This record gives sequence, structure tokens and C-alpha cells, in this order.
Amino acid sequence: MKFAEKRMILGISGGIAAYKTAELVSGLVQRGLAIDVIMTQAAQALVGSKTFQALTGRGVYTSLWEEDSSPLAHIQVTAQTDLFAVIPATANIIAKYAAGIADDLLTTALLAYDGAVLIAPAMNLRMYKHPATQANLNVLRGRGVEIVGPSEGRLACGDEGEGRLAPLAQIEFHILRLLERQKELADRLVLVTAGGTREKIDAVRFIGNPASGRMGYALARAYALRGAKVVLVSANSSLPDPYGVEVVRVHSADDMASAVFERAQEAQVVIMAAAVGDYTPKETSSEKIKKGAGGLTLELSPTVDILAELGKRKRAGQVLVGFAAESDQLEENARKKLVAKNLDLVCANPINEEGVGFASEDNLLTLIDSSGVTTRLPLMSKDEVAEQVIERIIEIISRGENISPDNLLSHERKDAEDG
Ligand SMILES: Cc1cc2nc3c(=O)[nH]c(=O)nc-3n(C[C@H](O)[C@H](O)[C@H](O)COP(=O)(O)O)c2cc1C
Repeated sequence: MKFAEKRMILGISGGIAAYKTAELVSGLVQRGLAIDVIMTQAAQALVGSKTFQALTGRGVYTSLWEEDSSPLAHIQVTAQTDLFAVIPATANIIAKYAAGIADDLLTTALLAYDGAVLIAPAMNLRMYKHPATQANLNVLRGRGVEIVGPSEGRLACGDEGEGRLAPLAQIEFHILRLLERQKELADRLVLVTAGGTREKIDAVRFIGNPASGRMGYALARAYALRGAKVVLVSANSSLPDPYGVEVVRVHSADDMASAVFERAQEAQVVIMAAAVGDYTPKETSSEKIKKGAGGLTLELSPTVDILAELGKRKRAGQVLVGFAAESDQLEENARKKLVAKNLDLVCANPINEEGVGFASEDNLLTLIDSSGVTTRLPLMSKDEVAEQVIERIIEIISRGENISPDNLLSHERKDAEDG
């Protein structure tokens, strides 16, 4: 059976739709998936745990304090789990998970788990529309939690509107897609760079840029959530290390080049999202340069062009992704970069628009791949952008486009040579 080696934790919270979850479990078990169920107290008041025991052929966890279970069940239950789903997810569970509250087995296990999470909210229309619920869902979405539904229709309370549990086929599809995707990415190394490099002038001064690292961190985290092994080479970012990601901290362009070249060969995907300085002072003073009456002239030399070097060293099957921060002729310049540096995908972002790009929460990207397909994404959070970029990379890998693309437009090649 296709999913015989996969294991999922299924959290069931106290929504009236909990009875529907039994049918979903039955279908997933038939596909070979091992499912461990955790039920909240409210869920047990609505449906019996015996149904799920019978359907899964496994124990159902109901409390942190069960007499006959291990005192560390909340930690042990999350080990070797491919997916954690909460179906249905009540307004209460969504709020607790968003706030990091861990006051029962389900919420504690959710916090103890750092893999892929899917939730299917179901509740009364007004509960769903409440700004608190919407804000909580946005927090979870931003953390990479996959939210399926709710859909519209007649609700148990008699109201009509949004709040119904998404159709089971839709939820099942998303569960299988997440498991499938993890299989694709398992043990694959993804190398991501983030932040902005700093070139030392003297003991206290440097040439730098305002990159925060958010875009690269979002990509690293989204990849880790999909089960990939991720190395994040981070330059001067103050963001905390994302869960499940190996972080290598660097300062200068030169440091970044060494860290990247060391790991790039074994990576299936390399994404250069960092803003790497193009020039570095020819000479660096170990002491602070004293302020003088006259001016100060710095002589700069170029740094290593990491992306171009990666493009030259790219092996068959490897996907190389670059970012192009452009202040004018965005797409044209990005296309030139794609060709000149032998990239498979370039993510072009304008740097002259308010609230977009460098050091901001949101990004406005145009994705251009080596077959010329151009996607102009609307303004969205960097987490959402990361998902879109990863989807495109998966498409590129599955099309095998990254291997000697002979469908490149010849005039684009010429542009690059001329430029
Ligand atoms: C019959 C009944 C049906 C309920 N259905 C829902 C529901 O569909 N969605 C929801 O968010 N809450 C629903 N509630 C309220 C939750 O059960 C309540 O908020 C509870 O505290 C949730 O606990 P839990 O999130 O730990 O399971 C329902 C309550 C009752 C009594």
C-alpha cells in the first residue's frame, strides 16, 4: 500500500463535525496510513473514542494524565510522525494553538511537534467570521500550517454560510498531497541563503544593506515543514533559528561564499535569497579609523559572484534559484540574470515600492523560469511567497527542466553574453 510507511497524528477537537472524521479515518487507514488519534475532552463528549480505536486498530490518546499511558505521551506520540492533522479544528483549538497554549494532550502535542500540520476548521459562521478567529488563523497560516476549508453551506446550528467542515474528499486530498510531497523531499538537501552580508571597513564600520533575512527564513522553514533537510546560510539576520533547520551564521560575502560552496554540491535545490554585497574594501583597519578634517576615500574590490559561480558548478538535476532586486526594468533585468547565471528560476522583486522587499513583511514577486514561464504574484506575506516559490521549484524538478534546458530563447542567451 502506497502510504504503508507513513504515520499521522489526528487530533479531534470538540466540533459537531467530529462524527465525519470517522469516515475520513476509515478511508485513510485503507490506504495503509497508521493513524494515532488524540481526542480533546469536548470531542469525547460528542463522539466515542472506541469508534476511532476500532477504525485505526490503535490506541486513542485522551489525556495527559492517563493512568496506563507513559507520562511523556505528549512527546512520544509526536516522534516519527509525518503529519499532524486536526479535524475538525474548533475555534478554541485554533486560538490555543496560535497562542502557544498547552493545557491538554492535543495542544501540548501540537506544541511539541515541529513537522507539517494541517487543520480543517469547522464552526458556526459567526465564530468563524469573528476577528479573533480570523487573526488566529492568519497566525497559523503564517507559520506554515495548512488550513483546509471551511466550506459554505448549512451549518448544524441552522445558519447558512462559511463554517462547515471542508468536504472529506478535499481534506483527504490535502493530507495525501502533504504526505506525498514529503516523500518527494525526504532526505533531499535544500540550501538557502538569507540576510545581508557586511563588508568590514574598520573595527566598527561596515558596508551593508537592510536585508532582514525574512524571505530566506520563510523559504527554509517552509521546506523544513515539507520534510526536506535544510541548511540556511544566514548573514547578519536577527531572526531566531527556524525549527528543524541547520543554520550557518556568516558575516561577509566571502564567508558566505565559503559556506555555500562547501554544501552546494550535495544540495538538490540552492536558493540564493541573501543580499550579497558586490564590493568589499580593499583594505580593512583592525582599529577604528579616526575622524579627520578631510574626506576619506575607500577603494573597493569586487566580491565573489556566488550565484554565477554556482551556475557554473551546477550539476545535472540541481535547481538553482536566484533573487533579483531591481529598481527598474524589473523583468528584463531579471531575465538577463537568469540566463547569465545559468539559473532555473529567478524571483524578481521591485525595491522601489513602499512596504515591499527589503526588510519588509510582504513581498511582491515575479517568478520567471528558464522555459520563459512568468508568474506575477500579488502582494503577499513572505511565508505565502515561500510556498509559491517552492511549488514552482517542485514543478521545475518534475518537468526535468533544470537539466540542460535547450528551450531557452536564443536571444536571451545573447542578451546575457552582450551584457
Ligand atoms: C453540541 C456542540 C457542538 C459544538 N460544535 C462546535 C463546532 O462545530 N466548532 C467549534 O469551534 N466549537 C463547537 N462547540 C464548542 C466547543 O465544543 C467548545 O468551544 C469546546 O471548549 C472546545 O474544546 P476543544 O477545542 O478542546 O475540543 C460545540 C459545542 C457543543 C456542545
